[in-house]
Amino acid sequence: MNPIAAAPFVFLSTLSVLQFVLVAGHESQGTNGGSKAGVVNMNLIQQACQHAPHKDLCIDILKNDPNSKGADLTGLAYIAIRLAGAYASEVDAHLRSLLINNATTLSPVVQQGVADCIEHYSDANEQLDDCVAAMSTKNFKDVEVWVNVAISDADYCDDSFSGEKSVVLQKNEAFRQLCNNVLAVVKALPPHGKE
Ligand SMILES: *[C@@H]1O[C@H](CO)[C@@H](O)[C@H](O)[C@H]1NC(C)=O
Repeated sequence: MNPIAAAPFVFLSTLSVLQFVLVAGHESQGTNGGSKAGVVNMNLIQQACQHAPHKDLCIDILKNDPNSKGADLTGLAYIAIRLAGAYASEVDAHLRSLLINNATTLSPVVQQGVADCIEHYSDANEQLDDCVAAMSTKNFKDVEVWVNVAISDADYCDDSFSGEKSVVLQKNEAFRQLCNNVLAVVKALPPHGKE
């Protein structure tokens, strides 16, 4: 398996820990589990992910978020945006830690690449923040444009290493996956601009 193909699965292994926590938490709530807010609506999540390039991964990621319980399609879109934004912050923190802790072992080219990636991820983070605002005014077109900018940010980051191996190849791939989930859920929303 090449690193790119493996990336989503590396990412998933953290999620399965999350899933375990969720299942354990759910079972401890007892047997009356009928409350609407406590149930993940799998049909809705499948609907939300129907346009995703990696449908199963999109479904797993959304269903494992505790906030998906009781969420409608719009709620799922907010969740997808928040997950992408949170991951962008995580990648940003990782990159900053590399600059601080690995400075002596990374080549100057790679250090410059890491510094460039920090700028790209800071931009990606802003795009996703703006998406939250655009969602609240139902500007779905803007959400699509800005998520695509965030995806380009990850591409630029990969290209920042001047031919040397990107040190965040897998993280970029996982981030693009989360961004594609946002695009999928937004596509599944009721007719744009209506309601
Ligand atoms: C950064 O340093 C840590 C600890 O020395 C090491 O495990 C890790 O592989 C290094 N990362 C890179 C990208 O060189």
